[in-house]
Amino acid sequence: HTGVVRRITCVGAGYVGGPTCAMIANKCPHIAVTVVDMNTAKIEEWNSDKLPIFEPGLEEIVKKCRGTNLFFSSDIPKSIREADLIFISVNTPTKMYGKGKGMAPDLKYVESVARSIAEHAGGPKIVVEKSTVPVKAAESILSILRDAQRTNNTLAFQVLSNPEFLAEGTAMKDLANPDRVLIGGEDSEEGKKAVAALVEVYSSWVPRERIITTNTWSSELSKLVANAFLAQRISSINSVSAICEATGADVSEVAHAVGFDSRIGNKFLNASVGFGGSCFQKDVLSLVYLCESLHLNKVAEYWHGVIEINNWQRRRFADQIIAELFNTVAGKKIAVFGFAFKKNTGDTRESSAIHVCKHLLEEEANIAIYDPKVEEKQMRMELGLTTSDDKVDKLVSVFSDPYEAAKDAHAIVVLTEWDEFKTYDYSRIYESMVHPAALFDGRLLFKRKEMESIGFRFFGIGTAP
Ligand code: NAD
Ligand code: UGA
Repeated sequence: HTGVVRRITCVGAGYVGGPTCAMIANKCPHIAVTVVDMNTAKIEEWNSDKLPIFEPGLEEIVKKCRGTNLFFSSDIPKSIREADLIFISVNTPTKMYGKGKGMAPDLKYVESVARSIAEHAGGPKIVVEKSTVPVKAAESILSILRDAQRTNNTLAFQVLSNPEFLAEGTAMKDLANPDRVLIGGEDSEEGKKAVAALVEVYSSWVPRERIITTNTWSSELSKLVANAFLAQRISSINSVSAICEATGADVSEVAHAVGFDSRIGNKFLNASVGFGGSCFQKDVLSLVYLCESLHLNKVAEYWHGVIEINNWQRRRFADQIIAELFNTVAGKKIAVFGFAFKKNTGDTRESSAIHVCKHLLEEEANIAIYDPKVEEKQMRMELGLTTSDDKVDKLVSVFSDPYEAAKDAHAIVVLTEWDEFKTYDYSRIYESMVHPAALFDGRLLFKRKEMESIGFRFFGIGTAP
């Protein structure tokens, strides 16, 4: 190791900062990695036996490296001062106020980190945007940092773009074996040196040919485009699911047949009740907003269609439940299996379950939720964002046993694709329900024939009776 980077600080101890730094510490014993956050309770959790996030394989690595070359700290100024390289890995949620409300990403957290770095750097730093940001965000960060240089000539900054492509639930696998690492930087001698320093960090475990270097703006844009393409595939197959339901084609068969074309590929073609998660909607909206700002209205409209189909799919699924339960769900117990936005995570941000439950609550259904990883207070918090607390208290119950959740229910609604849902004794569940009992499969987990032979009225996304 040439050892340009010996100390890394990451600002933001969330779903990205925590796992990414754990992986770097694990693969680079020669680098000391400190993760900081303004949320001191979260830092305490990272230093405890119960980590603030669940990711398969994360705990093992944190336990192995913590205290050796992986540290979690609330002392942001000190950690900035001591670092050679600083990741900015804070949240960039959709803005909920002012200009760009509901569309543009809120960059106030990124900016506040840039200001902290300007204040506490005390010497040269490589600053790395890991947060997902709009194109040209690096320019704003650089302006803030350059201003600090005016009054302190020992300071020097390079800003790199290094977006993260990990998916939740498989974060550690994705980090250990990424399809690619993307690093964007300035096309100057100093810029190239900074890029090389970060390339060297990743080269400890990522094959060099999978480390792509580009200019800063290409890197920033590629992140938004990658998420837009992924979300678009889901909206594409979900739009097809509606055609299947109306015609007797089966969406799994269509996806299989279409995905066999190597140009199309078979991944990410699972029809569902709609994509969730903290990023797809946020990043597609960010791209749409960028296009609008550039007066590329046709392009904005094109990508906005991805979001429209997703909202429509959620609504369509909820409407089908209501229609198939004889147009009235008021007072009926409906079991909801799964609240997380995908399996193997406890994350509920933008989960389609929130939207489907909201529609059912509007119809006064009694919702009985079971999820293997999501805590009750988290579910109530999410539902409380769109439904009054009184109503949530009155109509929502949360179970730690799926059999209890389904007992006396008129229907089961599957909203997350947890593997364990496939292992239950559905004959037993069916017997405990109110008849006729319905199963609404929003994740294509079940075979129609099997469920119908048990006695269920079966409704699966993209399949027709
Ligand atoms: P998160 O909300 O889990 O974590 C962000 C953390 O930053 C929070 O703990 C918050 O307290 C902290 N923070 C905010 N402002 C701060 C400040 N000024 N000083 C110190 N700490 C501060 O967010 P996340 O899911 O880790 O996402 C972070 C970024 O990475 C986002 O831009 C997101 O789009 C992107 N991203 C996320 C994923 C994912 O799977 N979650 C994947 C790829 C990229
Ligand atoms: C996604 C991307 O996959 C990551 O590459 C990216 O880094 C990340 O967003 C981000 O920028 O935050 P993530 O949201 O964690 O990762 O999870 P995905 O596996 O992409 O799933 C997103 C949603 O799409 C989930 O609700 C999932 O159930 C749904 N989905 C996924 C489908 O409905 N069908 C599919 O075929 C695939």
